[in-house]
Amino acid sequence: MEQQKKVILSGIKPSGELTLGSYLGAIKNWVELADTYETFYMMTDLHAITVRQEPADLRSRTLKQLAQYIAAGLDPEKNTIFIQSHVPEHAQVGWVLNCYTMFGELSRMTQFKDKSVKNADNINAGLFTYPVLMAADILIYQADLVPVGDDQKQHVEITRDIASRFNHIYGDVFKLPEPYMPKVGARIMSLQEPANKMSKSEQDNGGCICITDKPEDIMRAFKRAVTDSDTEVRYDPANKAGVSNLMQIYSSATGKSFTEIEAEFAGKGYGAFKTAAGESVVELLRPIREKADDLLKNKDYLQSVYKSGALKASSAAYKTLRKVYKKVGFVER
Ligand code: TRP
Repeated sequence: MEQQKKVILSGIKPSGELTLGSYLGAIKNWVELADTYETFYMMTDLHAITVRQEPADLRSRTLKQLAQYIAAGLDPEKNTIFIQSHVPEHAQVGWVLNCYTMFGELSRMTQFKDKSVKNADNINAGLFTYPVLMAADILIYQADLVPVGDDQKQHVEITRDIASRFNHIYGDVFKLPEPYMPKVGARIMSLQEPANKMSKSEQDNGGCICITDKPEDIMRAFKRAVTDSDTEVRYDPANKAGVSNLMQIYSSATGKSFTEIEAEFAGKGYGAFKTAAGESVVELLRPIREKADDLLKNKDYLQSVYKSGALKASSAAYKTLRKVYKKVGFVER
């Protein structure tokens, strides 16, 4: 039976603190999938270095992210949780797939174009071939579903294109994955610029909430959140992007529907609503932050999790690696 379960794989780069957006949009949804699917979740440190990182920070953030995954409810007994660089098959299959990916198709990736503008002094080859490594991440586990936000959909599409091209030449080697969009919390936006996704690059201006933020900082960010000149708490993303984003957050944190929220704050204005939304996030994140802090004190436990995760991941990935190497004509070691 175990073999029959569909496979899910996803990951987040340890290039900054985990945000409220990554918690509500990704990890919180992952937690519920463990019973139905065979699941793999990683800290994508190989991807993180496409942008320059401070080595000591990268190392500590990777462990912190692992602690936060577990604290947020991802059970290491039920999910394979690992560090990408611990599983060499990612890079190994990534190289092979580089030779089956066209320069032209990589040039069309919007994330590459965006990041080239943001990192104009470091447009390295890794930034360019990032989607190929991501394709390898997904294909080596024969993943059926890949939970990603909107911004990563194009990368899942190119993964399918690369896999189809390879399969067309060599037979059925790779399963073609589908993106898997969460029903709620898919897109938590910046509190300062509600047209943009909440991103760790906005940590300083109050647009972004991190899982580890202190209650007073969270409350301040919510009180300063951008809304509009109206006073009505109403879900209307097109005309009231800021308020709608806060409603999305409040709804995800409390389980209340938009209609319930509109009734709760009818005639009360934005002040009361922002306070309630901020408090709901403080209470949502408090246990996660406390548990993550505890776990971080227990380095042996974290090590046992990532070691056994790497073993499990590697044994799954190795099967695909062998097939790939054989198909392209490498002599077996
Ligand atoms: N590129 C993803 C991001 O920036 C992270 C990632 C790397 C990923 N490899 C993956 C996500 C494989 C899903 C599957 O968010």
